[in-house]
Amino acid sequence: MKGIILAGGKGTRLYPVTLAVSKQLLPVSDKPLIYYPLSALMLAGIREILVISTPWDLPQIRRLLRDGSHLGLRIDYAEQPEPNGLAEAFVIGAEHVGDDPVALVLGDNIFHGYAFQEILQRHTEDIEGCVLFGYPVRDPERYGIAEIGADGRLLSIEEKPRTPRSNRAVVGMYLYDNSVLDIAKNLRPSARGELEITDVNRVYLERGQARVIDLGRGFAWLDAGTPESLLEAGQYVQTLEHRQSVRIACLEEIALRMGFIDADSCARLGQELAGSAYGQYVLSIAEQLR
Ligand code: DAU
Repeated sequence: MKGIILAGGKGTRLYPVTLAVSKQLLPVSDKPLIYYPLSALMLAGIREILVISTPWDLPQIRRLLRDGSHLGLRIDYAEQPEPNGLAEAFVIGAEHVGDDPVALVLGDNIFHGYAFQEILQRHTEDIEGCVLFGYPVRDPERYGIAEIGADGRLLSIEEKPRTPRSNRAVVGMYLYDNSVLDIAKNLRPSARGELEITDVNRVYLERGQARVIDLGRGFAWLDAGTPESLLEAGQYVQTLEHRQSVRIACLEEIALRMGFIDADSCARLGQELAGSAYGQYVLSIAEQLR
């Protein structure tokens, strides 16, 4: 399975902070926001990843993540000049996806919870149709909202409904079989002029091929698109990391635990960052798992 991180957009809700810096590079506690969605793809075992962003932000993101080889990944980059909608990722990324299934993750989404890795790995194997993840929210009019049948089948899906049929938001991690490329290619822009991911999901729904996995209570799904949510996300990560002495979304640790790199490479990466507590943590993990 291939991965795509969509990390474009203007970040207008964070102005003036995002006038000069990409939202996805802002710190969430001790690391850039984009580390969190990237870590989710890595935990799913995905190693070939396309990062899509604006022509202005892409060079900085590339400076951070490089070609991915230090993490045992292959990271490529593609431009999205205008925010024409989430589903444009499959038009821009068609060549990257090739004949494979694909996971799309939004660059400002953070996932954290028990057994997330198992959930992802289970659903990325042999995918037919699409797999979405649902999460209960207080403000359903802000999200793509799914109505789910008893067997986990999707019954209806609406983008930012005025009168929501449920409080299950569809989170920013989507798993698709390869037909998503055709669906996206033939999609018409919505009333707000975007290629909507919800319209892609509705095609799968009509084919009876859309499933929703409930992430439920005890799971944390955060998006970091506003000053409040960015701060809240940072506080959440900091509280957990402080209490448990483990780091969330430490890419070097995940690469080592997943077997993408060896302990020596991990120690070298830690050494490069040794001036920070994050770097010291990477060094200690390399030592522990040697
Ligand atoms: O976060 C989950 C929600 O994400 C879903 O529940 C919705 O169904 C889905 O439409 C989306 O809603 P948002 O209102 O959060 O979408 P937004 O336009 O804010 O875009 C999400 C991120 O993707 C944001 O960081 C900017 C980036 N983006 C967005 C668009 C439209 C791009 O990189 N390119 C784009 O063309």
